[in-house]
Amino acid sequence: MTTKRIPFVAGNWKMFKTIAEARQLVSEMIPGLQAVKGVEKVLCPPYTSLLAVKALLEGTDIGCGAQNMHWESSGAFTGEISPNMVAELCQYVIIGHSERRTYFGETDETVNRKIKAALINGLIPIMCIGETLQENEAGLTKQVLEKQITGGLVEVVLPKANQTGKVNLIIAYEPVWAIGTGKAATSTGADSVIGDIIRPAVAKIFGDEVAQSMQILYGGSVKASNAQEFFAQPNIDGALVGGASLKVEEFVPIVQAAGN
Ligand code: 13P
Repeated sequence: MTTKRIPFVAGNWKMFKTIAEARQLVSEMIPGLQAVKGVEKVLCPPYTSLLAVKALLEGTDIGCGAQNMHWESSGAFTGEISPNMVAELCQYVIIGHSERRTYFGETDETVNRKIKAALINGLIPIMCIGETLQENEAGLTKQVLEKQITGGLVEVVLPKANQTGKVNLIIAYEPVWAIGTGKAATSTGADSVIGDIIRPAVAKIFGDEVAQSMQILYGGSVKASNAQEFFAQPNIDGALVGGASLKVEEFVPIVQAAGN
């Protein structure tokens, strides 16, 4: 039986906000976010602010997530954070963001290791995929996304779905050319990429039921002014928001739009 997909909106703060700034932003956002029911809401601040943010979110229905992690549970890996360390603070972790692939050498293979480690540690990974402008213009979108999906999910075993049937893995389709550029994909374009390429590729791996139950997000220049349009599409279950997640007057209306 296919599960109804709950709208999901996460804010990826990237490398912004000190602890004091994070506290202020979250305090200002909580009332507006709490007022929206029927949407899963997640904040992903930098590691240094996770503890402070988690404390502020205590007793709310807002979750938190990390932006990355290592796959090993401990060891001599200077500067890295392990999955069990993330799991002490968060329910979610973003894996394979295009900025990590571009600037920090992440590959489908490291993404795959991280997805497995996240799941073993009870975290819900938000796996990011997306084609570059060059790949898009060369007509390679389908090929690139299928490779990222199959490579990232090799031998991944999903935990048994709980009673709600929720799949513990989320995919975010973030075309690289739409990230931080102000040039979002069209809502119908993103919808057909998700419906015609991403869900079928997931179905090939995990079967139709999982593919139809999995929350798949769009990310890339989502703002209060265009969010509604994306969320109205049948295959888009929510958004991974960058820049606009750092502004209360943007992020709260985006979450409200997901609840409509
Ligand atoms: P922007 O919303 O700033 O374009 O960033 C999208 C993103 O990378 C979210 O992970």
